[in-house]
Amino acid sequence: MHRVRGVVARSKGAPVSVETILVPDPGPGEALVRVQACGVCHTDLHYREGGIGEEFPYLLGHEAAGIVEAVGPDVSDVAVGDFVILNWRAVCGHCRSCRRGRPWYCFSTFNATQKMTLEDGTPLSPALGIGAFAEKTLVAAGQCTKIDPKAPPTAAGLLGCGVMAGIGAAINTAEVGRGDTVAVFGCGGVGDAAIAGARLAGAKTIIAVDLDERKLDWARSFGATHTVNARNADPVQVIKEITDGNGVDVAIDAVGVPETYRQAFEARDLAGTVVLVGVPRPDMEITLPFIEVFGRGGALKSSWYGDCLPSRDFPMLIELYLQGRLDLDRFVSETIKLDDVEAAFHKMEKGDVLRSVVVL
Ligand SMILES: NC(=O)c1ccc[n+]([C@@H]2O[C@H](COP(=O)([O-])OP(=O)(O)OC[C@H]3O[C@@H](n4cnc5c(N)ncnc54)[C@H](O)[C@@H]3O)[C@@H](O)[C@H]2O)c1
Ligand SMILES: [Zn+2]
Ligand SMILES: [Zn+2]
Repeated sequence: MHRVRGVVARSKGAPVSVETILVPDPGPGEALVRVQACGVCHTDLHYREGGIGEEFPYLLGHEAAGIVEAVGPDVSDVAVGDFVILNWRAVCGHCRSCRRGRPWYCFSTFNATQKMTLEDGTPLSPALGIGAFAEKTLVAAGQCTKIDPKAPPTAAGLLGCGVMAGIGAAINTAEVGRGDTVAVFGCGGVGDAAIAGARLAGAKTIIAVDLDERKLDWARSFGATHTVNARNADPVQVIKEITDGNGVDVAIDAVGVPETYRQAFEARDLAGTVVLVGVPRPDMEITLPFIEVFGRGGALKSSWYGDCLPSRDFPMLIELYLQGRLDLDRFVSETIKLDDVEAAFHKMEKGDVLRSVVVL
C-alpha cells in the first residue's frame, strides 16, 4: 500500500482538493506507475462538474506519462522501469470488435480491478480509469504503452488524451488526406491537435474557428491556414467563402455543443465528413434538417480517443516528435504542481492556456 497525494473532486461543482490517497500494490494484470507529468484536460473539468457521472469522489487526471514502479505477478508486456504513456482504452483482444480486427473500437476496454481509496477507505473513481493527478496511480497493465524515454514526460503525457484525441480525429477518424480542406471548431488542446494532425496528413486548407483571438493565434502556429472568430462572423459563411462556396471535406467539432456541431454539419462539402470529438453534456440534444443529412451524403462520425490504437499510435507519434515533425512542446502553456489544478481549471475556462501540465 502506498500513501501519496492526489487531486480529488469530492462533489459536483466543488473546488478540487489535494488529499492523501491509498494506492494498493499491483495485483494480477495491474501496474503501479510513478506519474511524472499529467496534463489538465477539459474532461477533468467535465468530471468535476458532474458532467460525466455521479460517482464522486473522483481522482482526477488522465493525460499522463510516468515510470512503471511495480507490476502484478502475471504481467509480462510492461516491466519495472519502463517509460510509459497511460491510455484510457486498454484493448481486450477478445470482444466482438477486437475479434473482427478492429481493436481501436474495442467494446470491452478495462482498468485496474483494485480500488484506490481515501484514507478512511472511501473508494475513489479514477478519471477515465486512470487518476493521474497523483504521485502514483494503479492501472491495468494494458493501460501502459511503452515509448522511447528520450521524449520528456511533459510532452509524452499529452498523447495520453487530448492531443491523441485531436490528432486521431483528423488522421484516423476523418482520414484526412493530401489536398483535403478541413475546418476545426474549437482550438483548445484537442482542436489544435486536430489542426496539427490535418497538417501532418497533408491538408491544403485548414480553417480554425474559435471565440478567442489568442486561441486563433495559437491555432495558426499549429498549421491553420485561415482563422475565423465566431464572435464576429458566421463561421459557416466564411468557410464557404474560403472554399469557393463549397464547404470543407472534413469538419471537426472539438467543442461538443449543439451550436458547433450544427456549424460543422453546414460547413461541410457534399460527401464530406463531420467528426465529433468534443464531448457533449448528457442533457444536450441536436436537431438537424433530416433531408440534408441524406442530401449532403458523406459521413457523420464520432471519435473516441481519436480512434487510436495506443500500441500503434503512441510510439509512432513520439517518433515524429523526436524527429521534429510534431511539436508537442507547443501545447504546454505552463507546468504546475498538484496544488494548482483548481487554478488551472479557471485558466482553462478563461482561455488563458492550451495545456497546464502537472509535473511531479
Ligand atoms: N473524444 C475524446 O476522446 C476526447 C478526448 C479529450 C477531450 N475531449 C473533449 O474535447 C473537448 C475540447 O477539449 P479541450 O481540452 O481542447 O478544451 P478547451 O477548453 O481547452 O478548448 C475548447 C475551445 O473551444 C472554444 N469554444 C467554446 N465554445 C465555442 C464555440 N461556440 N465556437 C467556437 N469555439 C468555441 C474555446 O474558446 C476553447 O478554445 C472537450 O469537450 C473535451 O471533453 C474529447
Ligand atoms: Zn476488445
Ligand atoms: Zn482528456
